[in-house]
Amino acid sequence: MNVVVVGSGIAGLTAALHAHESGHAVTVVTKGALGDGCTGFAQGGVAGVYGPHDSRDQHAEDTLVAGAGLSDDAAVDVLVADGAARIAELIARGVAFDRSPDGELLLGREAAHSHARIVHAGGDATGAAISAALVAAVRRTTITVVEHAFLTDLVVGSGATQGIRILRPDGPRTLEADAVILATGGAGHLYAHTTNPLGATGDGIAAALRAGAAVADLEFVQFHPTILGAGPAFLVSEAVRGEGATLIDDEGRRFVFDTHPDGELAPRDVVSRAIARQAAAQGSPVRLDATLLGAETLAHRFPTIDRITRERGFDWSREPIPVTPAAHYLMGGIATDLDGRSSLPGLFAVGEVARTGVHGANRLASNSLLEGAVFGARAAAVLGAPWPRRAAPPVSQAVDLEPAASAGSFTRAALQRLMWDEVGLIRTDDGLRHALSTIRAWSAAAGPEADPSTVGPGAVDEREDANLLLLAEATACAALARTASVGAHFREHSLIGAR
Ligand code: SIN
Repeated sequence: MNVVVVGSGIAGLTAALHAHESGHAVTVVTKGALGDGCTGFAQGGVAGVYGPHDSRDQHAEDTLVAGAGLSDDAAVDVLVADGAARIAELIARGVAFDRSPDGELLLGREAAHSHARIVHAGGDATGAAISAALVAAVRRTTITVVEHAFLTDLVVGSGATQGIRILRPDGPRTLEADAVILATGGAGHLYAHTTNPLGATGDGIAAALRAGAAVADLEFVQFHPTILGAGPAFLVSEAVRGEGATLIDDEGRRFVFDTHPDGELAPRDVVSRAIARQAAAQGSPVRLDATLLGAETLAHRFPTIDRITRERGFDWSREPIPVTPAAHYLMGGIATDLDGRSSLPGLFAVGEVARTGVHGANRLASNSLLEGAVFGARAAAVLGAPWPRRAAPPVSQAVDLEPAASAGSFTRAALQRLMWDEVGLIRTDDGLRHALSTIRAWSAAAGPEADPSTVGPGAVDEREDANLLLLAEATACAALARTASVGAHFREHSLIGAR
């Protein structure tokens, strides 16, 4: 088969390598250079099951609890069952996970895990190690790579996906395909503050929406509790808290215990809201105190964070550092079955762009790289198989609301601020309605879609803006439709004070 994979993180490159190894003709299309994207930024690691008292069942149980009851059991079973094989594959492809002097994998701990089970590489440079190994593996094959290619749309005909349209610096192109695997990642740039790299503008989900594929769970946006509260967004891994760092208020008190008995290792949504509320109450950022770990451990276990914090003027071995939450991961996305098939024949989605059902209302830390590898491989394995009559359920969350009469002018920054304020960590009915009517006014003012033949400066930015607006509207609709708080979706009226 002629297979086009869009995206070059762990999910896309795993799918591409498996498809190639099964004899398909594979083209990888990527927005930046091969391997750019979110995977390379991942610090924490990959959740596995290695410790003597750990088990797949316990990993599954932790995943289901983090998902707040909305994960699909079957998808979680697949994740934990296939996980060991995918980590072994990464090792075979050259990822040097950190090991003890006697050769055992070193296991980190992160929030809501009942065991230390996170394999990591280069201390806090896991994603970079994975990305480098997979890019090198792809470069050793005959897989065709098309870099700096922006996905403008899917080509759909006779009810099936027939290829993609892309925009390159030299103009638009159409790539025909028997199957398209979207692995374009998430949409962190819907928000004013995000851990995601610049390209995370929801291009794959937007293209799927325009093509009529079902999406689900867009209201579930995970906010990471700790990015450095100084300078451009920079993640301070949860693994730092897993090693014992604490979160303190302006009086040095560990305030997260006021909200949850697990304190700093409570689920991310709980910790993020506790931080946001405390920062608002004290009028300054809360701080992460890692001083008890000592300079040597910090430099050895977290070399990237150590370097960046020092570059920004902090000696975190001696003083607590300011931290604040930021949009991190989209649990929702293109609805798929257990093999990455969407509701549109010929279209697969893997990695963050997909809603496989693994994450439910909140993703367990370090399950995302694992999910990308597991479902990337599974999608490739069924490429030649007949398409089931109904691969993924159609989902619709229409909300009847007029565009706002006066919404001001659209800018990407204004959209990101609106989403942060009204469709962010803490949501209210009024705020969501205000956001949705404003987004609709901006969309109406934007007029018809850009001419697909337009090239030149600004053409990609314009399309990204259109994608963000489309996704913002779908996210606000989904958030309005879910009136109860669950997981990362927190509606102020229904649960305040109850957690
Ligand atoms: C982190 O290192 O804190 C992020 C890991 C993840 O998002 O799973």
